[in-house]
Amino acid sequence: MMMPQDIDLILQEALLYGRSFLSRGKVADYIPELAKADPSHLGICLILPDGTTCRAGDWNVPFTMQSIAKTFSLILALQTVGYEKVFSKVGMEPTGDCFDSIVQLESKQLPPFNPMINAGAIVTVGCIDLPDPFEAFLDLVRRLCFHDAIRLNEQVYLSEKHSGLRNRSIAYLLQSDHILEGDPEQILDRYFRMCSVEVTTEDLARYALILANDGLDPVTGGQMIDEWIVRIVKTLMLTCGMYDESGEFAVKAGIPSKSGVGGGIVAAAEQGIGIATYGPVLNKKGNSIGGIHMLEYLSGKLNLHYFANKTCTSV
Ligand code: DON
Repeated sequence: MMMPQDIDLILQEALLYGRSFLSRGKVADYIPELAKADPSHLGICLILPDGTTCRAGDWNVPFTMQSIAKTFSLILALQTVGYEKVFSKVGMEPTGDCFDSIVQLESKQLPPFNPMINAGAIVTVGCIDLPDPFEAFLDLVRRLCFHDAIRLNEQVYLSEKHSGLRNRSIAYLLQSDHILEGDPEQILDRYFRMCSVEVTTEDLARYALILANDGLDPVTGGQMIDEWIVRIVKTLMLTCGMYDESGEFAVKAGIPSKSGVGGGIVAAAEQGIGIATYGPVLNKKGNSIGGIHMLEYLSGKLNLHYFANKTCTSV
């Protein structure tokens, strides 16, 4: 049985290991506001099922969720319109292409492959049938992260909206093929806002704790998300959550995870453990290079791989 101080030590080791890769990547600059992030930042937060919270490095630096928002919008779409409707509009298959790829839309491989790539997420956001989908999204994020002060980063949102030409192309292509229903500009505006919600690793680790415990919050005992929804979200995180690096990350870390170009990764680990990392330096695939390596390190140290031998739990 590990004590919190043992885990604190392992987090420090993970941090050192993660830092050794930072010179091999760079901060996202295709959204001008994101380019302002400090490349030396690296942090992690890990929460055990009893609520014990371990933090290391720059765990408290706020960052925008970016593609991590895709997990929340999928939850909201499944909650509001259900399985049949959502998966009539978006598939469940990994793409092997980059997150903002247009190639499959143009070659008529429709609907979009999965809700974790931009095309699939834009369709998913379009499915959310509520009077104010962004307010409902923000409310869900605040409830699942147990943090009422979570809010939109207005600068990042505006920067994203002004520079989002590729996403605009995706949305209009989807409209021309009758996949996207409704006004593309309105749906894109919601998508950009969702990406620009600001969190810390502790917020996301709290959310990951719920995912890791099949929707049940082990701290309060409340069922926060239906189990069937969590099963879908975690499966898509494992198979598609790290874009065209999902296969490699599944082999090496084996933790259902979702990254964002803001530098965050949310990870729902075995043994009911919630983890989130932050490090804005990205590798070529758009994943946090420090975050990926910290999670791989922790997976080995704490036996967190999805297909690890379950008889030797270490935490
Ligand atoms: O759609 C975009 O370009 C971003 N707002 C989100 C993409 C993203 O985070 C991809 N991540 N790795």
